[in-house]
Amino acid sequence: MRKRIRKILVTGGAGFIGSAFVRLLAKTYAPAKLSLVVVDKLTYAGDLTRLEEAKGRYKFYKADISNKSQIQSIFKRERPVAVVNFAAESHVDRSICDSAVFVKTNVAGTDMLLRVSREYSVVKFIQVSTDEVYGEIANGSFDEDSPFNPSSPYSASKAAADLLINSYIRTYSFPAIIVRPSNNYGPWQYPEKLIPLAILKVLRKEKIPVYGRGQNIREWLYVDDCVKGILAILESGRVGSVYNIGSDEERRNIDIVMLILKEMHASNNLIEFVKDRPGHDLRYRLNSDKIRQQLHWMPEVKPEEGIRYTVRWCLAHKDWLMRKWSNIAWLYRKNVL
Ligand SMILES: NC(=O)c1ccc[n+]([C@@H]2O[C@H](COP(=O)([O-])OP(=O)(O)OC[C@H]3O[C@@H](n4cnc5c(N)ncnc54)[C@H](O)[C@@H]3O)[C@@H](O)[C@H]2O)c1
Repeated sequence: MRKRIRKILVTGGAGFIGSAFVRLLAKTYAPAKLSLVVVDKLTYAGDLTRLEEAKGRYKFYKADISNKSQIQSIFKRERPVAVVNFAAESHVDRSICDSAVFVKTNVAGTDMLLRVSREYSVVKFIQVSTDEVYGEIANGSFDEDSPFNPSSPYSASKAAADLLINSYIRTYSFPAIIVRPSNNYGPWQYPEKLIPLAILKVLRKEKIPVYGRGQNIREWLYVDDCVKGILAILESGRVGSVYNIGSDEERRNIDIVMLILKEMHASNNLIEFVKDRPGHDLRYRLNSDKIRQQLHWMPEVKPEEGIRYTVRWCLAHKDWLMRKWSNIAWLYRKNVL
């Protein structure tokens, strides 16, 4: 880490990707080199258990990024040098049911962080965006200059935040960088998402719901690879720019589910095709040449290997997974998700 970056504030650090980032920072840097401040509202998706490995290495504030007085008082006390914003409402299906909290957290929350970060002169602000801002693509891939075409209220709210950041870069020469990762998976993912949901369903000997005929294609990125990319960008990325982070590993949802079934020695009969999600993008694909060429980042984990690790992790953390499931099972029963 450059000498100047001595204290980092990570928002959404109790979430799936944010916690992997905090664990990586805690492992990579000695406490004397780097202090870590984690801010998280602890919504249904946040859980400090994910940070047990980094216990004692970070200071925690339970706060809402859209709340001015909470965020200002944290910045006043901590004076972070850099900010990495993972905090978001992140589940597409929930955004289709109700977009209000997505706009509040993902747009107004990012705006609040930008305003306060500028007031306190942070030297780097990393916004964790998503490949979904580009929308779907039938052939080829999106590079960082491709236009936005978001399909869901979730991806529209993330695109709005990216536009705000661009305006800060242009208007105030604000030192922000936007990162757009593809679909992440791995340990500690909330079981609303395809991979942990499928594993949990096999464990429960229940049908695995697969949208449409499972033909949607995603670029699957193991979470540890993703956070290594974000760290490389924090350390050496060029301010004012955008970096895609993709694995180049495209798989159809049905292929991913089949891999899980094979890994868990379960029958394909557990697959149940269900009514497709409205506005479901068929294929996402990033061109990630920029991060590979400029920062020499490369993904290390192939989906086959990553799924194996994730299945093993889920088997070792069955209780955590089942506890999360007990919070959301009623949403599935009522067809809310
Ligand atoms: N999961 C993916 O595949 C993926 C892919 C690309 C980009 N992203 C982006 O990466 C980021 C992290 O995603 P994730 O999968 O870890 O999400 P997550 O839902 O697991 O974590 C989000 C975290 O943000 C916290 N949070 C929510 N609202 C908040 C608020 N108002 N104030 C403070 N904290 C709040 C939650 O408590 C949770 O801990 C998000 O910005 C998401 O858009 C995710």
